[in-house]
Amino acid sequence: MTAATVTVAVHLRDTDRRAALARDVRIGLAARPRELPPKWFYDEVGSALFEAITRLPEYYPTRAERAVLADRAAEIAGRTRADTLIELGSGTSEKTAMLLDALGEEGTLRRFVPLDVSEATLRTAAAGVAAARPGLAVHAVVGDFETHLRHLPDGDERLVAFLGGTIGNLPPGPRARFLAELGALLHPGEHLLLGTDLVKDPARLVAAYDDPVGVTAAFNRNVLAVVNRRLDATFRPERFAHVARWDPDAEWIEMLLRAGGDQEVTIGALGTQVHLADGEELRTEISAKFRPAGVAAELAAAGFEHLECWTDPPGDFALHLARRT
Ligand code: AVJ
Repeated sequence: MTAATVTVAVHLRDTDRRAALARDVRIGLAARPRELPPKWFYDEVGSALFEAITRLPEYYPTRAERAVLADRAAEIAGRTRADTLIELGSGTSEKTAMLLDALGEEGTLRRFVPLDVSEATLRTAAAGVAAARPGLAVHAVVGDFETHLRHLPDGDERLVAFLGGTIGNLPPGPRARFLAELGALLHPGEHLLLGTDLVKDPARLVAAYDDPVGVTAAFNRNVLAVVNRRLDATFRPERFAHVARWDPDAEWIEMLLRAGGDQEVTIGALGTQVHLADGEELRTEISAKFRPAGVAAELAAAGFEHLECWTDPPGDFALHLARRT
C-alpha cells in the first residue's frame, strides 16, 4: 500500500492573520465608502455558510461551473498534460475532483497543490483528496492568493486553476497585479484555468446574492462576528441589514452591511471606537461579472494567450483556458 503523502505549509499563522485583519479593519473603516475585504468571511462558520450558498437554487455559479468542468475536464487534461495541479482559493476542492480524475486518466498527474486562507477547510480537503488518490503527492499551502503566490512550488508542467469566479472579488487594479504576478510565476507553455461569472440579467444576479432564506445575509453578517472574536470588537451583527446590489457601470455585484440605527462600536485590539450613523454602509464584497472579450484582454496584458472560453449551455458562467506565452 502506498502511504498518502500530504504536507501542509502554513504561511498564514493566527498571529499574522490577526495582524492582517487589524490592518484591513483600521484602513477599511477609515475609508469612504467603508469596507472590509471579503477574504475575512471564511472562518469555519463562514466557510460552512458559503458551502450552503453553493446549494441554493438562486446561486447558479457553482452548478454552472461544475457543468462546464464535467464537459471539458478530459479536454483540459489532454491539452495541458499537467503534472501539477495548483488550485488557488481551493476551499473544499469539490469541483476539482473532475480535473484530478481527468489528469489521472491522462497519466500525467503527480502533485496537487491547493492554496487557501482557511486552514481547517484546507486540511480536510487535502486529506480527502490524498485518501482517494494513493500515489498523488498533496502539498497544501495555507495562504492568501494575493500575497503568497511566491510560496507555490516551481515546475514546468503546471496547471493553475482559479475557479468559482473568485477573481471577481478583486477590483480592476489589484486584479491586474494579481494576474501579472501569476504570469511572472509561470513558465512559457504552462497553463491557467480561470472561472469567471458572466454579465447577465441584473435581477438574476441580485437574487444569487440575496436569497430569500437568508443564508447569504448570515454569511455577510458573519464577517462582523469574525472581527468581534479576533479583534475584540463589539459589532452587533443583528443590527446590520444585508444589502446586495448591481453596479451597472462597474459591472459588479456589491454586498454591503447597512447599519440599522446609530451604533458605537469598540474595536479593542485597535484601541478605537467607530461611530456608524443610521443607514451607513460597510462594503464587504464586490463580485465582478465578466465578458469573454474583457477576460481575454486582461489575460493578454498579464502574459497569457487565451486559448478557449467554454460556457455552460445557458451561457451563465465561463471557464477560460490560457497558456503562458
Ligand atoms: C466564492 C467569491 C466566488 O463572489 O460569488 C457568494 C462568494 N459571496 N455569495 C462570489 C459569495 C456571496 C463567491 N466567491
